[in-house]
Amino acid sequence: MRIYLDHNATTPLRAEVLGAMTESLAEHYGNPSSGHAEGALALSRVEAARQEVADCIGVPPGWVYFTGGASEANNAVLMGLLAKSDGRGRLVTSCVEHPSVTEPAARLEKAGMEVVRLPVDRDGLLDPEAVFAAADGNTSLVSLIWANNETGVVQPMEEIVEGLKARGKRVHVDATQAIGKYPVDMGTLAVDYLSCSAHKLNGPKGTGCLVAREGAPLSPLIAGGPQERRMRGGTENVAGIVGFGRACSLAAKELTERMASYAALRDRLWLGLQERVGRIRRNGSSSRVLVNTLNVEFVGVPGEVLLQALDIEGVAVSAGAACHSGSISPSHVLTAMGLSPEEARSSLRISVGHGVQEAQIDDAIEIFARLVNRVRRAGVEQ
Ligand SMILES: Cc1ncc(COP(=O)(O)O)c(C=O)c1O
Repeated sequence: MRIYLDHNATTPLRAEVLGAMTESLAEHYGNPSSGHAEGALALSRVEAARQEVADCIGVPPGWVYFTGGASEANNAVLMGLLAKSDGRGRLVTSCVEHPSVTEPAARLEKAGMEVVRLPVDRDGLLDPEAVFAAADGNTSLVSLIWANNETGVVQPMEEIVEGLKARGKRVHVDATQAIGKYPVDMGTLAVDYLSCSAHKLNGPKGTGCLVAREGAPLSPLIAGGPQERRMRGGTENVAGIVGFGRACSLAAKELTERMASYAALRDRLWLGLQERVGRIRRNGSSSRVLVNTLNVEFVGVPGEVLLQALDIEGVAVSAGAACHSGSISPSHVLTAMGLSPEEARSSLRISVGHGVQEAQIDDAIEIFARLVNRVRRAGVEQ
């Protein structure tokens, strides 16, 4: 049986989610915009899911706009800025964002907007005072990742958002990796926008949402219809939305238990790797980090070689972000933390999640030990 340790790339569907989606595909075939009973049934399921998502994040359902995932939500917030500002103003972001923020930010820069990319320290953490200093009077938006997809490092977002709101700034948070693994509550975190994705919390791929606080300006994400309060035209992905809702209600109910069980698996893995594999280093803060994520440098071992050997032996992990696989450029997140390109290339992301068993962790440790030794002995060290 394979050992899937790449839950930050995507997660398997929970059986409850699959059940809800299967029922929805079969039964809720009406178009939610239609005025008959079939349409009303589909619409009622979309709205019930909106409530489940809203409850998970601590917001009124009217703030939730369903999207095709977090990339779309991130693009909507950043590209919406362009529509409003005509290329003027300043965007403050960081050097460790997901490409669905870095690439729209580069487009804004090209259109004339000033873009400030804040550095992180060796632990992968932002300095809140540096964020406040960068967010001067001309700043239209501060857009920051909460929990990093590659390292799992969790930024001190409560402190950052409090300081930014005291200065009257608009804030967008990419919470894609945080939801389901860390408490996310927009009731206490006063951000204007928050992005998330269903497939990172055992929901379906291609569904997510943008949460926009009442009064926060929003441009239509897709023009062309009345759906999502005219913000995203197009017939809704009813089954996907239903699955997202179910995944969120499970996540909300199980958060405490999940945090404890994922942390126990992650810590067992780290202890075992330290005992059985020599010359390894953990990348990023070990205290301000997601409960499920470990980013490890296997000194001198090319990450791509180890990744492929692990895959052949039945263990799935990731080198850098999954969206970058196939690329040999070192992770921009790790190099922003001060790792050399060689150190970054020797690093792997290992992320646990639902369904991972202790015995699989123990097996994975032995496989890592064997393969790292084999690669080192074979002299393919970089
Ligand atoms: C932090 C972060 N933001 C955004 C995304 C994009 O999410 P989606 O796959 O739903 O577009 C990801 C997915 O890898 C992510 O980890």
